[in-house]
Amino acid sequence: MNKVTVVGAGNVGATCANVLAHKDFIKEVVLLDIKGDFAKGKALDSWQQASVDYYSTQIKGTDDYADTADSDIVVITAGIPRKPGMSRDDLISTNAKIVTMVTKSIMEHSKNPIIIIVSNPLDVMTLAAFNASGLDSSRVFGMAGILDTARYRAFLATALNVSPKDIQAILMGGHGDTMVPLPRYTTVSGIPVTDMIDAEKLDAIVERTKKGGGELVKLMGTSAWYAPGAAAAQMVETILKDENRIFPCCAQLNGEYGLKDIFLGVPVKLGRNGIEELIELNLNDEEKALLKESAEHVSAVIDVYKKMNVG
Ligand code: LAC
Repeated sequence: MNKVTVVGAGNVGATCANVLAHKDFIKEVVLLDIKGDFAKGKALDSWQQASVDYYSTQIKGTDDYADTADSDIVVITAGIPRKPGMSRDDLISTNAKIVTMVTKSIMEHSKNPIIIIVSNPLDVMTLAAFNASGLDSSRVFGMAGILDTARYRAFLATALNVSPKDIQAILMGGHGDTMVPLPRYTTVSGIPVTDMIDAEKLDAIVERTKKGGGELVKLMGTSAWYAPGAAAAQMVETILKDENRIFPCCAQLNGEYGLKDIFLGVPVKLGRNGIEELIELNLNDEEKALLKESAEHVSAVIDVYKKMNVG
């Protein structure tokens, strides 16, 4: 039976563990936080919800990495979140060290896990975890695209007064203000979105999506958790159920889209082995240029990470 560890019992990690428990198909979710008894409290609270919401998944809270032994999947949410006025990139000096340390500790207890990164700055933290893990790049990737498309889909659902269920979309690039929502690959129940909304409104939604995380930081004084936690849980579900669903995820590029030495958001097929396939879309010149700009932004943050030598 499957075992999933979520590292970091803050808002995103605790939400992810709780959503996973509600899906009721995992034997055990371990919620780990170095903050003393904090994860134990969150896990106990979630476990006490089980008889009300009707699930059997056991949730164990801990501050001891030995309890994560033999995890199939590890979701890393550890690190500090943004405060108003901060960009995700401002978090790098703290979070690169945390993500590196967490990954090494995980690898001491699990042989060949799949690692999903949620910590920010997302694309560079995924690279940091990959470097620290020694795992194949098909087993280390980041959650951002599902969240960013979820925001895009929510804004479109509101504008069109339709269910978000019927909006399908893909979005590429880094998890930052240069992300690339793709209207050409957006449909409402198969109908091209451009048939349903005028260009100006769609443009405004694309722009709002790019700054969607920042909008929430401004409203709440810290970063979001419901959609981020649920998005990471969706990746776990897809992998463990071997569904081969296609989602935008932060993955290592080895020449695809003309890019390499970088982790960036692209469409991938997720199954039991992690990234089963990286999908190369036939982008037009404008989309290619936007993706290149986003990659350049992420590369600049990679340079900062490399200079830190956290290895
Ligand atoms: C956000 C954070 C989780 O976009 O990066 O809300």
